[in-house]
Amino acid sequence: LTNPQRPPVVYLHFAECTGCTEAVLRTTYPWIDELLLETISVDYHETIMAAAGHSVEEVLHETVKKYEGKFICVVEGAIPTAENGIYGMIAGKTMLDIAKEVCPKALATICIGTCSSFGGVQAAAPNPTGAKGVADALGDLLKTPVVNVPGCPPNPINFVGTIVNYLLFGKLPELDDKKRPLFAYGKTVHDMCPRRSHFENGEFVEEWGSEEAKLGYCLYNLGCKGPETYNNCPKVKFNEGTSWPVQAGHPCIGCSEPDFWDSMSPFYEA
Ligand code: SF4
Ligand code: SF4
Ligand code: F3S
Repeated sequence: LTNPQRPPVVYLHFAECTGCTEAVLRTTYPWIDELLLETISVDYHETIMAAAGHSVEEVLHETVKKYEGKFICVVEGAIPTAENGIYGMIAGKTMLDIAKEVCPKALATICIGTCSSFGGVQAAAPNPTGAKGVADALGDLLKTPVVNVPGCPPNPINFVGTIVNYLLFGKLPELDDKKRPLFAYGKTVHDMCPRRSHFENGEFVEEWGSEEAKLGYCLYNLGCKGPETYNNCPKVKFNEGTSWPVQAGHPCIGCSEPDFWDSMSPFYEA
C-alpha cells in the first residue's frame, strides 16, 4: 500500500479545538486510509499517534532533523504570543518556541483552519493570550512559504487539494493576498450560492421557520455573510458532498475570513 514518494508531514497542534483534525479524518477524496497510507507520510500527529510522552517528543525532533527542508509542516491552532507565549505549553516548551523551531525547517507550512491561519476564536477580542496565526506570530523568522487553508473547520478537500497540488506539480498552489489557495478561496460563497437568484429577486427569509425559509429564500436578512466570505462551500459541500450551512438553512458566518469572530458578528440578525 505504501508509496516511497510520500512526503513526510509533521502535524503540530497548538491552541485549538481539534475540529480541523476531525474534519481531515472525515476526508472522502481520498478517504483517510488512502491519504495516510498512500499519499502522505504523517510522521508526527499528536491526536492519531498511539504513543505519548518522551518517545513522541523524540519522534518530532528526529523527524525535523532527518527531513530538514523536505517535510511539510501542518499547523492546527493559533499561537499564544503574550508574555513570551506562556499561555500555551507542550512538554515544557511554549507553542511559540516549538513553532519557531519547527516551521522554518519545513519546505512549507500549511495552516489548517482559521486558528492557525488568522488566530481564530483564540484571537477574538479581548484576546488575553495574544493569540495569532502562524505567519503573524513568526513574522520574519519564517522565510519558507505559508499556505492558509482557513475555515472553522475547513473543508478537508481544500487541505488535501493543497497537498495534491504540490505532489502533482511540485509547487504550492497560487494564493490570494491572505495566502489562501485560489482554487478554493477565489470566489465568495455568495458568488456560487444556489439561493442567489432569490437575493437578486429580493426574496428574503425574515423569520426562522417561516414559509419563506421553507421555500429556500435568501438568508441575507438573517445575517448571512456569504457576500463577504471567500470559500467554495456551495461547490464542494461537506460530508461527501451532502450539504453545507446555507443548504441546511443556516446563514454563512464567514468562518474562513480573518477575525470573523469580531468582524462578522453578530452572526444572527433576526
Ligand atoms: Fe477548531 Fe475552528 Fe480552530 Fe479548527 S479553526 S481548531 S475547528 S476552532
Ligand atoms: Fe448570498 Fe447568503 Fe443569500 Fe446565499 S443565502 S445568496 S450566500 S446572502
Ligand atoms: Fe464557513 Fe460560511 Fe462555508 S460559515 S463553512 S464559509 S458557508
